[in-house]
Amino acid sequence: MYNLLKGKKGIIFGALNENSIAWKTAQRAHEEGAEFVLTNAPASIRMGQLDVLAKKTGSQIIPADATSVEDLENLVEKSMEILGGKIDFVLHSIGMSVNVRKNKPYTDPNYDYTTKGWNVSAVSFHKVLNVLYHKKAMKDWGSIVALTYMAAQRVFPDYNDMADNKAYLESIARSFGYYFGRDFKVRVNTISQSPTPTTAGNGVKGFDGFINFSEKMSPLGNASAADCADYTISLFSDLTKKVTLQNLFHDGGFSNMGVSDAVMDKFE
Ligand code: NAI
Repeated sequence: MYNLLKGKKGIIFGALNENSIAWKTAQRAHEEGAEFVLTNAPASIRMGQLDVLAKKTGSQIIPADATSVEDLENLVEKSMEILGGKIDFVLHSIGMSVNVRKNKPYTDPNYDYTTKGWNVSAVSFHKVLNVLYHKKAMKDWGSIVALTYMAAQRVFPDYNDMADNKAYLESIARSFGYYFGRDFKVRVNTISQSPTPTTAGNGVKGFDGFINFSEKMSPLGNASAADCADYTISLFSDLTKKVTLQNLFHDGGFSNMGVSDAVMDKFE
């Protein structure tokens, strides 16, 4: 451990169970000396094991539906009270498509589901940023990260409307990131992570084939949830102060590959 986050205070969204990327990030942040508040939607807190993580990391839990500005305002105010000041880092690790859950194909969605999934997966990030911005809750040189996937740039048919949600999310990071940089010296980035076996990941149709393909295509192999946590910690640390408005691929090299020997072998 390097004490990279010693004295830093944060808010971590989206730890459902020990497979969650946010769970691993919370563990690593704790090891690096950070103090933080854990949050998730009330139903997810009831279903998941967030209290176990809270105990392990000495953190408090504040429930918040990330689509509710009122819940987010309460979350940010209470977090500053609990942590005794402004926030250094925030992780948005939230995603859900109702069309995927209900097996609606991309070509024939239910548009109420489309709107709900977009609100949870993309607009929630705008709302989080909005509340942090207007409450002047971020400390100077703080860091905000959201998680995304490469289907925002390239076609992965089974990723369904999450591809569109991720494109929107990445755009919000750039657009709102400008104001955070200008006004508070705060950086806003997205990490585009390899397929990862979590509750959300396993919800994608054909996920096993998908993760194996990606493993064979990537020169370094897929990045795990623990790898993603490490990378996120670097973005929360003071070692990356001038990195902002970026979509950062964390995928073992997958995003720049055309084809690999291992994949070609299957076709020869
Ligand atoms: P996960 O299922 O453990 O986490 C998703 C979280 O979103 C859950 O904790 C869930 O409770 C939360 N959530 C859903 N609706 C919410 C709401 N209304 N308010 C607050 N929280 C809500 O899965 P994972 O994989 O750790 O997902 C984290 C992030 O990583 C997501 O943005 C996902 O799209 C992204 N990602 C995941 C990949 C994967 O293959 N698993 C690949 C690339 C990105």
